[in-house]
Amino acid sequence: MTTKYAETTAHEKYVGRRVDRLDGRAKTTGEARYAAEYSYPGLAYAALVHATIPRGRITAIDTAAARAVPGVIAVLTHENAPAMKPAPKVSMMDLSTLVIGTSVNYLATDEVHWNGQPVAVVVAETPETARHAASLVRPAYQELPAAVDFAAEEPNAIPQKSSALQSGGADKGDARAALAAAPVSVDLRFTTPPHHHNAIEPHATTAVWDGDRLTVHEGSQAITWMRKHLAARFGVPEQGIRLLSPYVGGAFGGKTMVWAGTLLAVLAARATGRPVRLALTRAGVYHTVGGRTPSTQRVALGADPDGKLTALIHTSVARLGRIGGMPEQITSASRHLYDVPDIHLRQNIVQLDLLANTAMRAPGESIGTFALESAVDELACELGMDPIELRMRNEPARDPMSGKRFAHRMLREAYALGAERFGWHERDPRPGSMRDGRWLVGMGVATAYHPAFQLPASVTVRLGADGGVVVRCGLHEMGMGAATAQAQIAADELGVPLESVRVEYGDSDLPPGPAAGGSAQTASAAAGVLAACRKLKQSVLTLARRAPESPLRGRRLDDLQARDGGLYHGGSGETYAAILARAGRDHVEAAIKGSMVKFLAKMLRDQRRWVKAASGAQFCEVRVDRDTGEVRVSRWVGVFDVGRVINAKTVDSQLRGGIVMGIGMALSEETLVDHRTGRIMNPSLAEYHVPVHADIPRIDVHCLDDPDPTMPLGLIGVGEVGITGVAAAVANAVRHATGKRVLDLPITLDKLL
Ligand code: MOS
Repeated sequence: MTTKYAETTAHEKYVGRRVDRLDGRAKTTGEARYAAEYSYPGLAYAALVHATIPRGRITAIDTAAARAVPGVIAVLTHENAPAMKPAPKVSMMDLSTLVIGTSVNYLATDEVHWNGQPVAVVVAETPETARHAASLVRPAYQELPAAVDFAAEEPNAIPQKSSALQSGGADKGDARAALAAAPVSVDLRFTTPPHHHNAIEPHATTAVWDGDRLTVHEGSQAITWMRKHLAARFGVPEQGIRLLSPYVGGAFGGKTMVWAGTLLAVLAARATGRPVRLALTRAGVYHTVGGRTPSTQRVALGADPDGKLTALIHTSVARLGRIGGMPEQITSASRHLYDVPDIHLRQNIVQLDLLANTAMRAPGESIGTFALESAVDELACELGMDPIELRMRNEPARDPMSGKRFAHRMLREAYALGAERFGWHERDPRPGSMRDGRWLVGMGVATAYHPAFQLPASVTVRLGADGGVVVRCGLHEMGMGAATAQAQIAADELGVPLESVRVEYGDSDLPPGPAAGGSAQTASAAAGVLAACRKLKQSVLTLARRAPESPLRGRRLDDLQARDGGLYHGGSGETYAAILARAGRDHVEAAIKGSMVKFLAKMLRDQRRWVKAASGAQFCEVRVDRDTGEVRVSRWVGVFDVGRVINAKTVDSQLRGGIVMGIGMALSEETLVDHRTGRIMNPSLAEYHVPVHADIPRIDVHCLDDPDPTMPLGLIGVGEVGITGVAAAVANAVRHATGKRVLDLPITLDKLL
């Protein structure tokens, strides 16, 4: 096993500590400016008009009343808007093509593809005028038959095609025969509803053209890809576009793709010759930004009476839009979690006349682990066996599907520590046996799992004669402490105080960073930061060795320690400042270029050798009101194997945030789609219920903090693993409290009465 990354940072000063976020002050004092808070002379405001049919053609569009409103600058429709170029084809050789939200060429077509599609844009002197005038636009439609009901269409699902990133299915042995022969078995059918991200900052774009040059302020998880996409759609050079995204008010996958609002703000600015701001309403986000697919899933498990698994079947159906969408790896965890000789996995899709689905925190695994981990719990009930014991009896030594080695796997340790912290031994296994007054108390566990992944990243590091360090990388900061983690890494690698490191990010003029997706950003950028810091130290050492009086003369970088603002061998060495001053340099800079070719080569090499992932054990205690069926989550313990922890404070927060989002998924979150019209019926925080403080108990998060030798600095991304397994842990606790197995999310009280 390579330990390429393990030798770095012999003495850690900041990595592993609880470090406050560097942007915390700007955010809490309101200094931080978001995309909708940039002002320009002559700024105009845009509002969208949304289609009210799921499929058809616009036969006429009456804009007279809207145009007559004082302060309206333009009403853009398919009849008068300048055309964008069509969306490019998706290709693995160009990852920017992954950000195509839909294939629709907005305002260049009279076709309607979903209920909510923008069909006109009003530009006005104030946002109120724009919204009011938008309400006066009257499209007329010829409606065409539309398929919008997932439950009705789900039987027509077709197999998902495999791609380089995802496989649509897999088989080992003959799982159907093994299931039929199993002495003990469960065979369950689950459903999960659509979900929406509900980032606290609704999507907003401020777009400013200056000739062929374009500036866009936008909260984005993928500025480099978005810039490339905008260049292609508007037929201008990439280098002439600057995308600024220093603060992103939450995203969870919803700000990875390029959606209608961004394209139409840029289009409106071009059409009117004015800087344009388009800030979506919350409903506007639901109607133009995809959410999580609904799913139906079957999980069947067979076992010997002693709990050894003999068969695993996991099949799923997900929903894409006809105009785009993302197959989700719903059965992915079922490949990796249990040592089973016979496995059958299939992912199927239906394409409906609805907005494309998109990435939402742990797409696939979040809902896939609900089904798998509920089924494992139900099998434990059938066997009369402790659900942790059942899992430990089937913990594999190698990846069950591929036979490859795990790069890192500490699920046994996670369950052992979690059981201790949670007090699992106090659980009476009999359903309904634990009570607290009128509350039925239940305890449940489930496994968390999310693959580890890396993307290419370019980084420059600059060291000034004054000792200041600037790390430059087009990173994305959606609130998780991304820049702080890189500052800690650079400070340790260079041996300088954290306060002397500044990280520049969120600007497409910077060296292209990784997208903040797939829990890959921190590891991807860390690889670049480590390499750039090393290159920088080598340059400084080369400068030092030129001077006969330098104590570093004749030394090699590998023999030196970076500490106290310089390079040292034991007690002898000198500061960077001294070296630069003697050499007459005001700074030294090092650049690392992220290469797509190298990235793909490494990905394929890694995929051949290892299975890499974050994992964890989720422990949940619920209280269920015996009369009303109300479920309250009363305690939570999560123990995670996420490799090395860079910032103990922000890692805990990320994992805790994932658990909170998972509790929402378990108990309340559900996007309701009218199955006659395809209209989303609850596009607001009043009717789509995300957890609030009163819903969330103290969450005890613990990381095992053992480096993964195959990852940069040994770290594994933490953005998504926290949500996985959560809904199953809740469902399993509810099963323990009440004896009822709820197969359909969310677990609302009507399902328990
Ligand atoms: Mo994510 S769902 O890869 O932001």
